[in-house]
Amino acid sequence: MARLERAGFRLRTLDGMPSFFVVEDGPYPLSLTLEHWAGLFYVQQASTGLAAPALGARPGERVLDLCSSPGGKLTHLAELMGDSGSLVACDVDEKRIRGLLGNVYRLCVPNVLVVAGDGRAFPEGALFDRVLVDAPCSGEGTIRRRSGDAQDHSKKFRASVAHTQRALLEKAIRLTRPGGTLLYVTCTFAPEENEAVVSAVLERLPVEIEPLDLAVPHARGLTSFEGAVYHPSMVGAARIYPHHLDSGGLFMAKLRRLEGDAPVVGRDAGWSPMSRAFPDDGRTEDEADRLVSDAVATVLSRHGIAPETFEGYDWTVRADTLWLHSRGEWPLPAWEPGRWRAISVGLRAIELDTSGRPRATNDLLRFASAAVRSAVVDVTEERLLRLLSGEAEPVDEATPYGPTALRLDGEVVGRGACKVAGLFSEVPKSRAVDLTRALTRSENV
Ligand SMILES: C[S@@+](CC[C@H](N)C(=O)[O-])C[C@H]1O[C@@H](n2cnc3c(N)ncnc32)[C@H](O)[C@@H]1O
Repeated sequence: MARLERAGFRLRTLDGMPSFFVVEDGPYPLSLTLEHWAGLFYVQQASTGLAAPALGARPGERVLDLCSSPGGKLTHLAELMGDSGSLVACDVDEKRIRGLLGNVYRLCVPNVLVVAGDGRAFPEGALFDRVLVDAPCSGEGTIRRRSGDAQDHSKKFRASVAHTQRALLEKAIRLTRPGGTLLYVTCTFAPEENEAVVSAVLERLPVEIEPLDLAVPHARGLTSFEGAVYHPSMVGAARIYPHHLDSGGLFMAKLRRLEGDAPVVGRDAGWSPMSRAFPDDGRTEDEADRLVSDAVATVLSRHGIAPETFEGYDWTVRADTLWLHSRGEWPLPAWEPGRWRAISVGLRAIELDTSGRPRATNDLLRFASAAVRSAVVDVTEERLLRLLSGEAEPVDEATPYGPTALRLDGEVVGRGACKVAGLFSEVPKSRAVDLTRALTRSENV
């Protein structure tokens, strides 16, 4: 953050919100900084930043984010979990999941398993310590971002969205272990999408409200509105209105799952270490084990990376990709096949080229930046810009042919390739465009 302040950004901290900064002023959009490109932070509204701490996720826990794209709260949860434990991200919208993956990879988050599917049909068979339901909603709280234009949702839309919200919350309760916690969040003020949804589950399911104790200005949840009466414990929910934090609106209710009727499965049932071969990969564990050992040894030796760099992590292979993820337990084998698809776990770290030769990905080289000792070329901003535009750059004769890390000001920014014709960039196109924007501080690239 000191670097941003030196660049002219004015940042302020918020009481009770560690690692959260409010940007008061800046010379250009934060999204055009090199630090943003490198994944050192995520830009979101101040009110949104309250959700992950309110859920209270801790290192080593098993956490589910049922409606996770594009990943603001998810990446915040990962940070609070110290990139450890198991964080499962679900979303129904494939296009939004692409944005989510972009953020997970940009921030190099190693403890996230991304699942595409309808949260209402999320597979059961393993229980989580904490579940976040950041539900789809009518979005009244985002009115400022829409220059004051309220979205005119029909009664029918509100009724159907409330139905979905309730089904998502009910599913989340079934997926939480007794004693575990849930956070229901929307960015709307409509009581029928907030207090009404939570009251309905309080009446029927084994949960109770855990009153939220926020360090920032907020209003309590409603117990009645326009003739409708809600559960008395809804006062323990929180409403953030735009004036509270000079930000967007937010509703949050925290619930504790009670023992109720006997849990469907035991606390640890369904959780097991990730296999070497991803469940749909087709290789045997032995084949996958051999491939992983050879590929990892080749990449580490090429870039002079000490094996200890990846202590606490595991490798899993799927088709021509090796993933690097936090060591821990994951629920994949326990989930019945259904209308869901596991997309990624941790980082895409090593890829096999068309000849089967392993190469470190751009993300792995950034992730292991400080440990990269060989097959690395230091570049200036000018040189990097030329490489990103597709030009070849001369390299000295000592640089070995093949994959090469590109390093700017001591930080690896991606992969290049050293060939007879010179050095080339292998930073993927969309990342190269964003990096060019960050280096030139201009959207017009
Ligand atoms: C408010 S947004 C989530 C924002 C996200 N949690 C964040 O912090 O970046 C709601 C998300 O719910 C997803 N969604 C809508 N219906 C869903 C369903 N039935 N199951 C899972 N996700 C759903 C939408 O695609 C959308 O990405």
